Amino acid sequence: MRRDGRGSRGGGRGGRGICALLAVLAVLVLLPAGAAEPVRRFDNGLALTPPMGWNDYNAFGLEVTEDLIRRTADRMVSSGLRDAGYVYVNVDDGWMAATRDASGDLRADPDRFPHGIKALADYVHGLGLRLGIYEDAGTRTCGGYPGSLGFEELDARQFASWGVDYLKYDTCYDGSVPARQRYGAMRDALAATGRPIVYSICNWGAERVWAWGSGYGNLWRTTTDIQPTFASFLSVFHATVTLAGYAGPGGWNDPDMLEVGNGMTAAEDRAELSLWAMMAAPLIAGNDLTTAGDAVLADLGNRDVIAVDQDPLGRPATLVSAHDGLDVLTRPLANGDVAVLLFNETARAATITATVPGTQSIRDLWNGTTVAAMTALVPAHGVAMYRVGTSG
Ligand code: GLA
Repeated sequence: MRRDGRGSRGGGRGGRGICALLAVLAVLVLLPAGAAEPVRRFDNGLALTPPMGWNDYNAFGLEVTEDLIRRTADRMVSSGLRDAGYVYVNVDDGWMAATRDASGDLRADPDRFPHGIKALADYVHGLGLRLGIYEDAGTRTCGGYPGSLGFEELDARQFASWGVDYLKYDTCYDGSVPARQRYGAMRDALAATGRPIVYSICNWGAERVWAWGSGYGNLWRTTTDIQPTFASFLSVFHATVTLAGYAGPGGWNDPDMLEVGNGMTAAEDRAELSLWAMMAAPLIAGNDLTTAGDAVLADLGNRDVIAVDQDPLGRPATLVSAHDGLDVLTRPLANGDVAVLLFNETARAATITATVPGTQSIRDLWNGTTVAAMTALVPAHGVAMYRVGTSG
């Protein structure tokens, strides 16, 4: 359990327009630096686009209950988020009893999960959703519950028998065992169950996980824990955007779960969601969906932004221009369109302009309108996001 703050790389002077002209196209046709094709030794057929869903940890810490998960699942359906693509309902740390049972099996805390995980999985599946669970590649979870190190096969079989569809596998109390050994053991144990289970490596970017993650799991955390602040998600963004060449269908950079709806400004919420979509990041909502207001639900459910995240080409964005805290990112899409994000890292509104050669149409993805040009007065810590149809 880490909720450490991280420094901002933002600041700088607002008010200057920039123009990303031919440089944009040049980057689009070149592979990003260091983008050697990752070796795909791991292929469970899952996560061909980044996983989408919800996880309790950012809003509730270790205070997770069966009742919370059921009520959240209900709201994912009634709010339309399920139909927008958010299908994984993920239970984080805190679900277990303090000890294994007499047979060595993991068990849910009987007070907080009185009906157990199997019944919860059945309930969630009945709503057309999928269930995720949390464990740790160490002797204990970060919250102090029993870990899976040395129990991989037993625990993987347990998860499969409960109907679990997604495993987030953390890295506290690692016993000084190398990460690849620990994560490889659970990868193989999950495969041996025969059940399709998305495998989420949560080792906070240690041992340059992006360089080997695609041989082990479907997603890998690139940093330590995110916080609900602009400084935090800015730092995570900068650490992750440079890793674009390591991600693709079946294996994604994971800049951590969303903090949308957890107290940032509306502009910051949209910025985080847009940056994550540009980076082809998993979109795992981290707010209390049972009380979320319409504006936050509408932002999370923005189909145009989600379509960028879920684009089947699976090529994450690159930062093609960055001056004084004013950034332009571009992402090539499967149908030949280009997604463009103007991001203002500064604390003052600023005009940002970008052009893409061969532009035939431009859709503003946050206003839902067709526009003539990509030029915007972008709010402090905010974004403007576009989908550009081109003749190329
Ligand atoms: C670590 C992970 C978090 C969360 C907590 C739970 O800090 O990085 O995402 O799972 O553990 O204790």
